[in-house]
Amino acid sequence: MAFLKLGRAALGVGLDIGSGYVKVAVVDHAKGGPVLTKAAMASLAPDAIVEGEVMDPTLVAQGVRALFQSAGIKHKKVVAAVGGRDVIIKKIQMDRMKEADAREVIGWEAEQHVPFDMESVTLDFQILDPEEESSQMWVLLVAAKRELVENRVALIQEANLEPVAIDVDAFALHNAFEVNYPEAMSGMSGFLNIGHDTTNVNILESGIPVLSRDVAFGTRRLREDLQRERGLSADVGKAVLEGRESSPNVETFMAERAAELALGVERAAAFLQAGAASAGISKMYICGGGARVPGLAQALGEKLRIPTEVANPFQRVEVAPGAVEFESLEEVAPMMMLPLGLALRRAA
Ligand SMILES: Nc1ncnc2c1ncn2[C@@H]1O[C@H](COP(=O)(O)OP(=O)(O)OP(=O)(O)O)[C@@H](O)[C@H]1O
Ligand SMILES: [Mg+2]
Repeated sequence: MAFLKLGRAALGVGLDIGSGYVKVAVVDHAKGGPVLTKAAMASLAPDAIVEGEVMDPTLVAQGVRALFQSAGIKHKKVVAAVGGRDVIIKKIQMDRMKEADAREVIGWEAEQHVPFDMESVTLDFQILDPEEESSQMWVLLVAAKRELVENRVALIQEANLEPVAIDVDAFALHNAFEVNYPEAMSGMSGFLNIGHDTTNVNILESGIPVLSRDVAFGTRRLREDLQRERGLSADVGKAVLEGRESSPNVETFMAERAAELALGVERAAAFLQAGAASAGISKMYICGGGARVPGLAQALGEKLRIPTEVANPFQRVEVAPGAVEFESLEEVAPMMMLPLGLALRRAA
């Protein structure tokens, strides 16, 4: 699913405009399996994007342009995404019909499920059980405020790039996750993307997203708390979060914050408990910059009483020599899950 459709190109360029870092992944599709040929990221000015909202599009566009330049990416066609509170993903039930017919009536159906004005919304959907013959079918509905999509397109154009598709964060993450962790596509599993401002909580049942929520938790606040509570400078706080420096009793700090995040995850997942009480989440996969924060993933697993694993977007994706200019691929891998998911999507 995507709000702007694309064709079959040999190269997929995924652009993830995060509130802390802009990230890009380039995937070559011409070689049988996907091969990562480039991954790069650059930090954004602190207030350019706040809680998912672009405050200064020109500054962000400059950041994107600078990243493409420094990484030597000449390709202009990119796949990007939108997310946050102006995007709604919902599993709904409706009368069984062909996809083309469903496309005609999806607006009417959506009206009952989406709290936005239908005039200002872009819709897409996917029939989840096309093989079934029951009179009703399950449909994954996605609605985004049109303005959000339009603004994202304008921002990318301002960066001298051409958006060939605008996807949804949760789907791109899911896509990357599915390719790398096929074993997580049965039973119930969860994956979290802990970013700079936001944590995306996703729960899958038999590989189908049954829950997709954002929790206001991210490394920006961790750093601010380290500054305020521990008197660390912004730079030292950042170094602690990136595992380059240590601070006394930092484990206690992480355990407290993990408890907070665990509560957010539990609240987000609460309504599932009633519907799917039989199946618990067997594993929580974690990506995003927050997955790199020493002790956080583990403390979170302890609070949730679910095993956690830091997810690697290159578990089953080949990485070409020289694709990454960082010290180690492992260091940046968790942050590349979303851009990789976008780069993997070269076709509608
Ligand atoms: N090696 C690293 N390099 C850069 N940032 C790191 C590193 N390790 C951990 N981090 C943390 O990860 C954060 C960025 O994570 P990420 O790229 O997932 O966020 P984002 O996508 O920009 O934010 P959001 O998704 O909330 O908009 C940084 O702010 C930093 O605190
Ligand atoms: Mg992010």
